[in-house]
Amino acid sequence: MYKQIGILTGGGDAPGLNAVIRAVVRTATLKFGMKCIGIEDSFEGILGETQLTKLTNKSVSGILPRGGTILGTRNRGSFCKVVDGKMIVPDMPIEEALSNLRKHEIDALVVIGGEGTLAIAEKFHRRGFPVIGVPKTIDNDLSATELTFGFMTAIDIATEALDRLHTTAASHDRVMILEVMGRNTGWIALHAGLAGSADVILIPEIPFSFEAMIKKIHQREKAGSKFTNIVVAEGACEVGQSEIFLDQKEFRLGGIGEHIRRRLEEMIDKESRCVVLGHLQRGGSPNAFDRMLGTNFGACAVRALAEGERGKMVALQANRVSTVPLSEAIANVKTVNVEGQLVRTARDIGISFAAPNVRGN
Ligand code: F6P
Repeated sequence: MYKQIGILTGGGDAPGLNAVIRAVVRTATLKFGMKCIGIEDSFEGILGETQLTKLTNKSVSGILPRGGTILGTRNRGSFCKVVDGKMIVPDMPIEEALSNLRKHEIDALVVIGGEGTLAIAEKFHRRGFPVIGVPKTIDNDLSATELTFGFMTAIDIATEALDRLHTTAASHDRVMILEVMGRNTGWIALHAGLAGSADVILIPEIPFSFEAMIKKIHQREKAGSKFTNIVVAEGACEVGQSEIFLDQKEFRLGGIGEHIRRRLEEMIDKESRCVVLGHLQRGGSPNAFDRMLGTNFGACAVRALAEGERGKMVALQANRVSTVPLSEAIANVKTVNVEGQLVRTARDIGISFAAPNVRGN
């Protein structure tokens, strides 16, 4: 049995991080009598001077509904660099981190993060250090788990935004465009689009054409609806074009919503407005589902460590939390199945993906 485990949160924050931290600490201390150390600012906290903080039941009390992470996080830094638009995990600081972990008598790690953070965790595992990963990201783009925590809260926020845009779009007979996050996947746009009754959903997995989008706007006008609500994933692209970046060097997606607004105004006689939801999708309190999922993930991660599992990630599969090898979890990005049930349902109820050459939608 481990005497002391380290906990860290890495990558972009997501609602539910504190729920996981709390469940890890409570399970480790109450059930297994292990001590917990919080590592601050992702892996950065185990470099140099180290930034470590003792975590007890008392110190995690009251954090369940809190947004962000009490440990701080980083999605850039010594372990994670962006070179030519790709996240690189340099090898160098791992030795230093391992020696600091030994120095502070941390025998195992629970690493809470997305693809990049879990790829670093896997490197620790390959050096023989016991690690269990917990899948976090509002993007829901991790393979091997049906859901990541944070995603459902992000959908709630995007759905509420669509509801609010609906009434102003209808009052002014405008085209309203909501740009949501998701990196190179359309999970948030697809789910929020369905829940928030978008008329057009644009996702990276289905390249769009302006002609198809305009066709849908005109169809709606003919049917008596003079407004159109469009939800666009930040990574969506026009057929034959690539994604739009706010900052190509730093690999920051953004700007597609405004690009669509400008082009539409050039092409049709209709006023349109764009809203970028941005980090509102990540901030604030997690919803009940993410508190529950985060708690279950955290407790299962500690049980897995206590049962001798290493180099694994907890994952939701068929409504049960189990473990999968970290290497499997980071192997592929999980994209929207364009032939899948949700896309089909959206098409069947008249939502357009503005795909060229698709009869109907
Ligand atoms: O991965 C989560 C995410 O919010 C993406 O949806 C988005 O592209 C990115 O992080 C934004 O990152 P940053 O916090 O660096 O702006």
